[in-house]
Amino acid sequence: MSAEPTRVVIDCDTGVDDAMAILYGLLSPEIDVVALSTVWGNIWVETCTANTLRLLEIVGRPDIPVAEGAGKPLVGPKWRLGDGVHGADGQGNTNLPPPKLRASGETAAEQIVRLAHERPGELVLVPIGPLTNIAVALALDPEIASLYREVVLMGGNFLVPGNASRWAEANIWHDPEAAQIVFDAGWPITAVGLDVTLKCMLDQPKLERLRASGTPAGVHIDRITDYYLTRYEARRGRRECAMHDALALGIAVDRTLILNQRRCRVDVELNGTHTRGMTAADLRIWAPVDQGNANVVLEADGARFIDRWMEILSR
Ligand code: BDR
Ligand code: CA
Repeated sequence: MSAEPTRVVIDCDTGVDDAMAILYGLLSPEIDVVALSTVWGNIWVETCTANTLRLLEIVGRPDIPVAEGAGKPLVGPKWRLGDGVHGADGQGNTNLPPPKLRASGETAAEQIVRLAHERPGELVLVPIGPLTNIAVALALDPEIASLYREVVLMGGNFLVPGNASRWAEANIWHDPEAAQIVFDAGWPITAVGLDVTLKCMLDQPKLERLRASGTPAGVHIDRITDYYLTRYEARRGRRECAMHDALALGIAVDRTLILNQRRCRVDVELNGTHTRGMTAADLRIWAPVDQGNANVVLEADGARFIDRWMEILSR
């Protein structure tokens, strides 16, 4: 890890695991969160914005701008998957009071474009929600693809089943057209998908340790994660939940967490009856590496990441 913090711009649909990522970013000395933007996904975008602003208040960082973005996918009407994972408020049905902080007034895509020009070659873009804002930013100014140092996104499933549908992961499933645009933009992309995030599981004893630490971030995570954990338990029989977005941010700042990755061509299925939103990665051994458009992470050291995350949130 370098001595300089990694400067990141996080685009999020702040549900429970987004909050795990954002608080880690805000508190880790290895990370400088330059700006945040919000997108529809786990919840409607206005609620994602409120949830994000509340996190800034919890850790006393009102200086970081939050730009609100898209409320629906590029194509078709407004929709979303429902309340079954993150709760009706995106924060585990905790119904917390609205934040006092306000979004900046700039749109997410405008902010993504502006920052690329202000700090060329410096910033890592970390999308942890549907890719709508990123695709809109690319449409506003395709040059941003050469101005971001790289993109590390949470999305896709490469050798494992989906979660939103049998073949699609939720962030890609919400806006497949946007995802294809992002994969085709020609910038360096690392995709952190379900192959590794479903092996990075936070369990009840760790949440209890976080609560006992008494830190505002630790107490908040414990509070909002109860419902998310219960939903996982109902499906998987164990009281532990995936830290999808936090692991993606962890990998964005520490590549030694990657144990196995492949450079390959990733296309998003836009038509299939059962496969719309699937990330079709060409992982054949004879696939031409020079035609790759992404690095897909196939194995990661989730246990080491969780230890570090626990340390940061509980001190
Ligand atoms: C992704 O979908 C959302 O529900 C999570 O916040 C994460 O970004 C996991 O598939
Ligand atoms: Ca998310």
